[in-house]
Amino acid sequence: MKTLNVGMVGCGFMARSHSNAYRQVGNFFDLPYQPVLKRVAARQPATAAAFAAKWGYAAHGTDWRALVESPDIDLVDICVPNNLHAEIALAAAAAGKMILCEKPLAVDVPQGRAMVAAVEKAGVRNLVSFNYRRVPAVTLAKQLIDEGKLGRIFHYRANFLQDWTISPAVPQGGNGTWRLDVAAAGSGVTGDLLAHCIDTALWQNGPIARVNAMTETFIKERVHAATGAVQPVGIDDACTFFCRFANGSLGNFESTRYARGHKALYTFEINGEHASLRWDLHDLHRLEWFDHRDQDRLRGWRSIHLTDHGGGHPYMDHWWVPGLQTGYAESFVHQIADFLTAVAADKDCAPTFRDALQTQQVCAAVLDSARTGLWVEVARD
Ligand SMILES: NC(=O)c1ccc[n+]([C@@H]2O[C@H](COP(=O)([O-])OP(=O)(O)OC[C@H]3O[C@@H](n4cnc5c(N)ncnc54)[C@H](O)[C@@H]3O)[C@@H](O)[C@H]2O)c1
Repeated sequence: MKTLNVGMVGCGFMARSHSNAYRQVGNFFDLPYQPVLKRVAARQPATAAAFAAKWGYAAHGTDWRALVESPDIDLVDICVPNNLHAEIALAAAAAGKMILCEKPLAVDVPQGRAMVAAVEKAGVRNLVSFNYRRVPAVTLAKQLIDEGKLGRIFHYRANFLQDWTISPAVPQGGNGTWRLDVAAAGSGVTGDLLAHCIDTALWQNGPIARVNAMTETFIKERVHAATGAVQPVGIDDACTFFCRFANGSLGNFESTRYARGHKALYTFEINGEHASLRWDLHDLHRLEWFDHRDQDRLRGWRSIHLTDHGGGHPYMDHWWVPGLQTGYAESFVHQIADFLTAVAADKDCAPTFRDALQTQQVCAAVLDSARTGLWVEVARD
């Protein structure tokens, strides 16, 4: 087995989830590569040192450029705020490194395009971390759609609801709260949360042709963690949009950080001619399914507990015995397993930067529509 040296940029939430996945993946999947946690870069030396010690990185530093250019790094993993993705990805591509980049691809479409051009010119393998695709229940939903079990799709609806920014005391900028600073995040819930819903929807139901959106910024000013000054808030706190998919189905999407009581309620429901399915991140190992063709007296919603690899449940042959479920962390393990398998086979692993650019283009159309109040056609490269 070959080793594959990982250079991690960032040491927050996603750096933890990816590091855990690199450490776990070889225990559960037979892969051509063994990931080695080689280097981590973060802004503060003490934070980088503590992260390296906890997760087992061989070296740490504060200079991501040095990490990207190190000859001993094969894969650069970008787990920092959105406004830094492009710069790091361009440098990594120029250095000939494979790239795993957190979502959203970039802060806007021009940056995203530059990233796509860079990886395609350099010929380096690339993946964007839309990890929900690799939750077994979400993967099963995709398989059922592709097999035609729902028939013609009429409706696609998705929500991503949170409640953590309701207090005006939450700052913009800083660790975690960089998401409220438009300069760091690019947008609010549209790029942060709806990007997940859009990626899953494009994958399951095909391209979105046009959108009509509404956004709101409920709290107009917040203290900036960097300056200490009260500054205007430039992000969307909430966004709802409806859309038409290229296949003729109607889409309905909502995201907010002002839904009191909801922490990360990502749900989708798809209604087809023969059947409907729905999924809920709070119960992520289940897929709910209704099939009109079921026998009359037994017809009803069923809740499929995805633990049975004998029953063909995706990824589950790598885990425990039937009845025992997996969770959030494992979606990142699946992501690394699929990526390394594709790298060994000299194949792309979706969603590539180019796939994620399409999500970025839908987000841009949504924000454009919210600004103008008009229907906006989604551009496609
Ligand atoms: N796939 C997912 O489900 C998922 C979930 C959360 C976050 N993300 C994405 O992952 C990336 C990182 O998010 P996170 O949740 O790990 O963030 P985080 O705040 O937990 O960590 C961010 C890291 O970046 C570093 N950093 C560098 N420059 C910074 C700056 N100017 N401001 C703040 N931090 C800075 C921080 O020190 C920290 O190590 C983002 O692009 C985010 O959208 C994806």
